[in-house]
Amino acid sequence: MKFALPRVIAITNQKGGSAKTTTSVNLAAALAMAGRKVLLIDLDPQANATIGFGLSSTDLDKSVYHVLIDVETTMRETIRRTELPNLSLLPATIHLSGAEVELVNTIGREIMLREKLGQLLPNSNFQYVILDCPPSLGLLTLNALTTANEVIIPVQTHFYALEGMSLLMNTIDLVKRRLNHNLFVTGILPTLYQSGTKLSERVLEELRKYFGSQVFQTTIRMNIRLAEAPSHGKPIFLYDAESNGAEDYTQLALEVIAHEIG
Ligand SMILES: Nc1ncnc2c1ncn2[C@@H]1O[C@H](COP(=O)(O)OP(=O)(O)OP(=O)(O)O)[C@@H](O)[C@H]1O
Ligand SMILES: [Mg+2]
Repeated sequence: MKFALPRVIAITNQKGGSAKTTTSVNLAAALAMAGRKVLLIDLDPQANATIGFGLSSTDLDKSVYHVLIDVETTMRETIRRTELPNLSLLPATIHLSGAEVELVNTIGREIMLREKLGQLLPNSNFQYVILDCPPSLGLLTLNALTTANEVIIPVQTHFYALEGMSLLMNTIDLVKRRLNHNLFVTGILPTLYQSGTKLSERVLEELRKYFGSQVFQTTIRMNIRLAEAPSHGKPIFLYDAESNGAEDYTQLALEVIAHEIG
C-alpha cells in the first residue's frame, strides 16, 4: 500500500503500555531526522509524549484540549517547536481527560480533530502527522481514527499481546465503513521484544502467523535507553544515538517512508 503526503498516522492500541507513546515520539523524531516535516499530536490526557519533550502543563496555556473544545482555538497557535528543527508538537495536558465528557452533546464530536487539522494542513508544510492515542477506544481515539489515513498498532511481544486485537481490528473496520473510508492499517509493530526469550519469539511468530505481511519487518527491542530518554525530555536520537532503540526506530522510519508515493 502506498500513501500520498501529507500522511496522517494514528498510533493506537487500547491496551496500556504497548509502547504507543515511545513509538509516536521516536518515529516522529526519526522521520524528522530523515528530512520530513513532522507534527506530533499528543491525544492522551496522561500527556506522556508532551512530558517526554520536557514540557509540563504549567508551561502551556493552550493545548490540544482547547483545540478540540473551543471553536476559536487553532492548531497553529497551539503548536510548539521541539529541539529537532523538523519536528513540532501539539501538546496535551490533564485537562484533556474532561474532553470526552464535555464533547458528549456536541454535534460532530468524533470529527473535531479532523476539522481542525483540515484547517491547518493546506496552509502548512507538514508531511507527516503522528497521533499518539490514549489506551482506550473512547472519543479521543475515535477522533484519531476519523482524522488518520493510516494506523500503526504497536503490540507488546508478551503473553497477552493478541488479546484485544480483534476488538481493535473490528473498531478500525467500523470506523472505515461508517466514518472514514480512507483508513488503512499500515502495520503491526512488535515492541518490547526480549531477544533470546522463548516468550518473545513465540508471540512474534504468532503475530506473523495471524497477520502475515501486515506485521512490520522491524521489531523494537527492549532497550533501557528508550525508557530513560523521556525523563531527559528528549527523543532517543538526542539522548543516545548509538542505542539499539535509536537503531530500531530508524529502521521503522525507513519502512514507513517506503510506503510513500513517488
Ligand atoms: N523498547 C522498549 N524498551 C524498554 N522500555 C520501553 C520500550 N518501549 C517502551 N518502553 C517503556 O515501557 C513503558 C510503556 O511504554 P509507553 O508509555 O510508550 O506505552 P503506551 O502504550 O504509550 O502506554 P499507555 O497505554 O499508558 O499510553 C514506558 O515506561 C516506556 O518507557
Ligand atoms: Mg502512551
